[in-house]
Amino acid sequence: MRELTVGPDTVVLGIETSCDETAAAIVMGGTDIVSSVVSSQIDLHAEFGGVVPEIASRAHLEMLNPVVARAIVEAGVDESRIDAIACTIGPGLIGALLVGVSGAKAYSLAWDVPFVGVNHLEAHLYSALLEDPSLELPLVVLLVSGGHTMLVEMRDHGAYRLLGQTIDDAAGEAFDKVARFLGLGYPGGPAIDAVALHGDPEAIRFPRAVPEGLDFSFSGLKTAVVNYVRAHPDVSSADVAASFQAAVVDVLVTKARRAAREIGATGIALGGGVAANSLLREELLGACAEDGIRGFLPSRAMCTDNAAMIASCGWYRLRSDGATPLDVGALPNLRLPLLAS
Ligand code: KG4
Ligand code: ZN
Repeated sequence: MRELTVGPDTVVLGIETSCDETAAAIVMGGTDIVSSVVSSQIDLHAEFGGVVPEIASRAHLEMLNPVVARAIVEAGVDESRIDAIACTIGPGLIGALLVGVSGAKAYSLAWDVPFVGVNHLEAHLYSALLEDPSLELPLVVLLVSGGHTMLVEMRDHGAYRLLGQTIDDAAGEAFDKVARFLGLGYPGGPAIDAVALHGDPEAIRFPRAVPEGLDFSFSGLKTAVVNYVRAHPDVSSADVAASFQAAVVDVLVTKARRAAREIGATGIALGGGVAANSLLREELLGACAEDGIRGFLPSRAMCTDNAAMIASCGWYRLRSDGATPLDVGALPNLRLPLLAS
């Protein structure tokens, strides 16, 4: 394997296949996105109301090479310019992960460049820094996706402390379940976001669960929505969606700003699919302005799954830890690496 000194000219090809997006991107120097291609499988899963793991694996298998080829063509670089391959090794769906990991290892061997395994959750933390490398640490990152809801203190590159997390459903899961119940389709987050624009967020006062410290809980809210709609069958779906969304955003923003105050953070960044939510973006910025700290919202494309954040995180991990041995497997239950205290 070629020896590599990681620096501003180092070009990393990122690959992401942990769930229902096949993505590839070329990033230089950790933050310069040269190309980013995402092939979404949403249409394939929509009729089932959620991601079907076997369908996801098969679609990744079909799309991986074309998506990588497109990322290279759009970057306008020759393959020989690629210095390393970064790929999500977990967490995610085992079959889906295996397609990306196997493909990435094959590219690494064929092109004789290092392979670096990336933690998908850590990569989401990087989406904010990727678009604004001037962000100063320590930062609080509110990571809200379909599978996770976490408040993370990013002290330094690779140095994270978990400040709080959901004790039951993830925020995105709550959006998806409520949308399914209201018959708004899949994925639920964008559907609720759109419908809520036509509703009154104060029409129904749904409960704001506030477990201890900086943890979250969303399953009671989901049940409250179901019970309310069953008791009021004529209620407007737009009002339910808007009131539900207001309740989720209220607790997310309240706890995120409390976390920032507790650790003296310079700002709060968003990450994960739910960070694309319009109300959350607006409320978080307002809260940060009030508290005199920076609020950073990655573009919507960087919030949802993409490979630019994988390549970026891969660049930093390659620089700190070197290449990952090729005998590493796909790790569906991988957790965010945390500091001891
Ligand atoms: O990070 P992501 O793309 O995939 C992982 O879970 O890793 O997040 C997907 C989640 C889904 O639950 C989806 O409904 C939610 O993000 N989501 C949104 C919005 N866009 C996507 N939730 C609320 N509002 C949105 N605009
Ligand atoms: Zn994700």
